[in-house]
Amino acid sequence: MADDMKKPYEYPFEMPSEDAVAMKDGGVEDRPAGVPKSYARGESVSWTPESISEIHALSRLGRYQIRGFNSFNHRLPSFDDLTFVPATMTRLPLEGYRESCDTKTVLGGGSGLVENPLELDIPIYIASMSFGALSANAKAALGYGASKVGTLTCTGEGGMLEDERRASRTLVYQMTPSRYMLDLAHLRMADAIELVVGQGAKPGTGGLLLGMKVSERVAGMRSLPSGVDQRSTVRHPDFLGADDMQVKIEELREATDYKVPIFLKMGATRPRYDVAIAAKAGVDVVVVDGAEGGTGASPELLLNHTGIPTMTAIRAAREALDECGMSGKVSLVAAGGIRSGTDAAKCLALGADAVMVGTGSLIALGCNSPRYFDGYEALGTEPGRCHHCHTGLCPVGIATQEPELEERIDVPAAAERVARYLTAMTMEITLLAKACGKSSVHNLEVEDLRALSTEASAFTGVKLAGIDRPFSW
Ligand SMILES: Cc1cc2nc3c(=O)[nH]c(=O)nc-3n(C[C@H](O)[C@H](O)[C@H](O)COP(=O)(O)O)c2cc1C
Ligand code: SF4
Repeated sequence: MADDMKKPYEYPFEMPSEDAVAMKDGGVEDRPAGVPKSYARGESVSWTPESISEIHALSRLGRYQIRGFNSFNHRLPSFDDLTFVPATMTRLPLEGYRESCDTKTVLGGGSGLVENPLELDIPIYIASMSFGALSANAKAALGYGASKVGTLTCTGEGGMLEDERRASRTLVYQMTPSRYMLDLAHLRMADAIELVVGQGAKPGTGGLLLGMKVSERVAGMRSLPSGVDQRSTVRHPDFLGADDMQVKIEELREATDYKVPIFLKMGATRPRYDVAIAAKAGVDVVVVDGAEGGTGASPELLLNHTGIPTMTAIRAAREALDECGMSGKVSLVAAGGIRSGTDAAKCLALGADAVMVGTGSLIALGCNSPRYFDGYEALGTEPGRCHHCHTGLCPVGIATQEPELEERIDVPAAAERVARYLTAMTMEITLLAKACGKSSVHNLEVEDLRALSTEASAFTGVKLAGIDRPFSW
């Protein structure tokens, strides 16, 4: 064996130029919004233009990709796979204009332990989205919009922002496993507390906020340095399982004088078991966030390849509550991919007591709106396709901490759009509920639905259209 073969291995190359790594001379850069139109369509099942582009990006970056928005996995079922079967002869519909349909929704009143359960005028509220992921103006506009229609919003991971507390009639304070933003005074100013053990967009991992969004103000709220990526822990330091979670819940009840409900939010993975554990541990509200759930930033593989669909998760969660005798005592909130009142009505029929909207509310604020074209272009995207919340360069001022971008939000106008979106969604729900003969949106039930695909039927147990029994193998 030659002598130089015995020497310790030395990597022989200097760092090549960025252009060479990026293969820019070949025209392939990081994956922008889809694959450039000039590419011929690939025919291979495995090596689609998207998967080729993905490998080019991975080989340039040397790490997984991170982005915002939600799953691009087209195998997930859609709420469009379900249809309503309104009353005809066997049931009587309600008169659309003369008969009313109740939309009042109470969260956290079932245990009898809470002095102030949350009383909402509608069964929809604004999802927890952190200050940091969102600008302060976006948070304020969501708060004012939700309050105008009598519903709640939630702080998200980044602590309680003054602007948001002022704007929100009812505000849920989120406690994530990272304690950095926890403030006892804020805890006592909240109308409910939400423990987070996961999110639909990235179950099994903690929060993620890239350095370009960690402004001085965001960093101050989180007691962390500015400009540095913030990767939050995933496991709560105070509990590992049901027994010590029960102790934590009791501690929170004492800290808030038994006044406010305790929520627990989870990503949908094994809801049948996870929901039962949470209910047994004593939470008042369980929030189940399906695989379609949105995010400000997540590893792309988690967005596309983890979790189970929202529709499946709702059914499993409801069955879990039924089986452990907790339906009526613990409220069930569903989230993940809910776009319209129609989607929301389907969630209620599947078993949710209320729904929460994240991405939909951002779109109502102006996300992806056809303005500021240069901003979208600079991100390599266009209105309708933007998923670049992680960059901090949101063209419409929502997912940014840049003052000149944030100013693009006209708070009163944006709040009004959010209020109108929630009102319109509620009208859609009541229209469907009355057609199904229900005097309350909470009377919608699985029997009001039929599945249009075998998958949707198998996922939910909803009867197949025309066959009138659930699909089974
Ligand atoms: C911009 C953005 C920021 C978010 N920040 C948080 C957060 O701080 N904590 C959390 O538990 N979930 C967070 N989420 C997830 C939402 O609370 C919610 O579960 C999800 O958006 C629901 O799915 P949807 O967007 O399809 O409505 C965030 C979502 C978005 C879009
Ligand atoms: S427009 Fe803003 S909020 Fe909407 S996806 Fe793009 S970066 Fe995110």
